[in-house]
Amino acid sequence: MLCLGIESTAHTLGIGIVNSNGEVLANEKSTFTTETGGIKPGKVTEHHILMYDFVLKRAIEKANIKLKDINLVAFSQGPGLGGCLRVGAAAARALATYLKVPIRGVNHCIAHVEIGKHTSGFKDPITLYVSGANTQILALAAGRYRVFGETLDTGVGNFLDSFGRALGLGFPQGPKIEELALKGKKYVELPYTVKGMDFTFSGILTKLEQLAKNSELKTKNSQLISDLCYSAQETVFAMLTEATERAVAHINKNEVLLTGGVAANKRLAEMLQLMCKERGIKFAVVPKDLSGDNGAMIAWAGILENKAGIKNKISETKVNQDWRTDQVEVIWS
Ligand code: ATP
Ligand code: FE2
Repeated sequence: MLCLGIESTAHTLGIGIVNSNGEVLANEKSTFTTETGGIKPGKVTEHHILMYDFVLKRAIEKANIKLKDINLVAFSQGPGLGGCLRVGAAAARALATYLKVPIRGVNHCIAHVEIGKHTSGFKDPITLYVSGANTQILALAAGRYRVFGETLDTGVGNFLDSFGRALGLGFPQGPKIEELALKGKKYVELPYTVKGMDFTFSGILTKLEQLAKNSELKTKNSQLISDLCYSAQETVFAMLTEATERAVAHINKNEVLLTGGVAANKRLAEMLQLMCKERGIKFAVVPKDLSGDNGAMIAWAGILENKAGIKNKISETKVNQDWRTDQVEVIWS
């Protein structure tokens, strides 16, 4: 069984090909980036339309298969940007109809979790899912990934991107902030807002934006920029680690999984690793090539759901921009 997965929820058009053992045969992508400023939904939609043929061709070549070898087409049905989602859904419908194979629309957030479970071998982890739009502490309970804690405003990735935008960096700003933070020497005091297992980032962002207006920041390499990046990371990652530790204390599970785009950040992984070591529980982070949005995770979720007997009719493939993680019944796990 070979599944082709299409990811198109936001900045990345990804096409992955995965077999029923979870081996990734191809994981090709094209990501919309900017020199300065954020991403505009209309431009990203156009990017996905223009890049589709190219990425599909590369994925088929990389997997060394023929298009007709595909047995299942999976796509990200939500959550995400409407226009971007519709490009992936339309492509998936066309492909499944042409190949006469089943189609499955998967939840993007659940795909981030399932690929992390697959690569770590964890069976029942507490998952810290950190990405652009989402930041959630999840665990399987009574057949669903329940949200034990989450951001009350923006996702941590969007927080980092917005802060980076204020520094004049282009999208995605998260990896650039990680690099600058390595040169940070002095911790600048910032608000710290954890409420039980929930957290907020907007107050910290406002404070950072005020500090970034400081004229010293006009020269891009100033020490102050690095100190602010360092302080931002230390603060928000400590918040996420604290909330995850609280979840560990409340829920009786002995594995912690870090997944999603921001899981590529080494400092965040280091903090969680330390917390888990001190508590004597296991920790794993999703590999970097599978952390940010990608088609392989969509294909793998498609395989899992298909094995459990879930398929869609074409009429059931309408996109769902606000599809929450805990709305999905997890009958395959
Ligand atoms: P979702 O729909 O799952 O909420 P997303 O579609 O926005 O997420 P992902 O690719 O899962 O996309 O995550 C992208 C985010 O990850 C961006 O905000 C980006 O800045 C951030 N990111 C990527 N690499 C790093 C890094 N090394 N350090 C910090 N943030 C990072
Ligand atoms: Fe994502």
